[in-house]
Amino acid sequence: MTVTIRNLRIAGPTPLPPAVVEALQRPMVPHRGGWFRGLVRSLLERLRALHRTDGDVFVMPGTGSAGWEIALVNLLAPGDRVLLLVNGDFGERWRRVAERYGLQLIVREVPYGRAIKPSDVAGWLAETEPVRAVLLVYNETSTGVTNPLREIAAVVRDAGALLVVDGVSAVAGLPLEMDEWGVDLIFSGSQKAWMCPPGLVIVAVGSRAWEMIDRASYPRAFWDLREYRSAARTGDLPSTAPISLIYGLDAAVQLIEAEGLENVWTRHRDLAVRFRHVTSELGFTCFAEGGYESATVTALVPPAGIGAEELVCSLEERYGIAVNGGQGRLKGQIIRVGHMGWVRWSDLEEVCAALASEVERAVAGRSEAVGH
Ligand SMILES: Cc1ncc(COP(=O)(O)O)c(C=O)c1O
Repeated sequence: MTVTIRNLRIAGPTPLPPAVVEALQRPMVPHRGGWFRGLVRSLLERLRALHRTDGDVFVMPGTGSAGWEIALVNLLAPGDRVLLLVNGDFGERWRRVAERYGLQLIVREVPYGRAIKPSDVAGWLAETEPVRAVLLVYNETSTGVTNPLREIAAVVRDAGALLVVDGVSAVAGLPLEMDEWGVDLIFSGSQKAWMCPPGLVIVAVGSRAWEMIDRASYPRAFWDLREYRSAARTGDLPSTAPISLIYGLDAAVQLIEAEGLENVWTRHRDLAVRFRHVTSELGFTCFAEGGYESATVTALVPPAGIGAEELVCSLEERYGIAVNGGQGRLKGQIIRVGHMGWVRWSDLEEVCAALASEVERAVAGRSEAVGH
């Protein structure tokens, strides 16, 4: 099969910078040897800085979905009351995982495309018995909405609950001050703003979460964060380390450090603003509520007469640009364009040019149909 994608603009996996590609090709070494342990120790330390936490960060084999389960089995016990906030397909998927765990799960949903507001969360927390944890997706990749994490964290903290966050398409692209904001656990996926292939789930754990981890009573083995904590002291992972991915993540972290974390956040924000501006001039409507649009993925409703699914196909077939369609209940309604990690304006400019041509083609097609 020939791959004809020239511009990978899905919401992850994202393009790999050359330095990451080079790192992935390095030879294998003993994963319990001194050199590799030194690399892991340094990487974990630098990941703490990038999460802005004095807590622990672990690199675990797995993908973002593993994060949902890692959080539940490590922090909770059967029957615990938990508030899960949903405003998109990933929140919904987390719900389906949580439902299997015998929790007292309280789900509150706002319409897809809208953000979860701190005042909503305060109201929901006030109307229920105290909950042990609140589960939130920071950046809803399915709708292009970024929930106001900082403000929600303040409300959750006031209620004395733990804040557990799916940061899969957020961390390393969107602002995060884990300790200052009061985020207790957040996980992300290597294939998103971390600019690496899929295969790692990066889990950051704050001090309040550790207290819960010690009292949680779900059986856990491979996902046991306590095992990761004790292994990390010597630069180990409990099982064979995914060496190539760790090389890749180390190279990506170096790129982020060289650019400066805050510059990375600003680049993401500026690209997203510019992309929304140009696409709105072309007649596309941003699906996300104003003020909560994501800086890592933009969901767009095409102008009347252009089908979202057809547009996804045309972009790929005619221009070699891969974007996502809508997922779950949004299938056929939106397209989603990823702009996280290794991305510059020229990558998005190309998408804008292709969208402009497609709009023109649709208009031309309509006038021809009228002419006939
Ligand atoms: C917000 C969010 N959570 C969870 C996941 C699931 O991650 P994975 O597909 O890596 O298992 C994704 C994937 O896109 C995501 O965007």
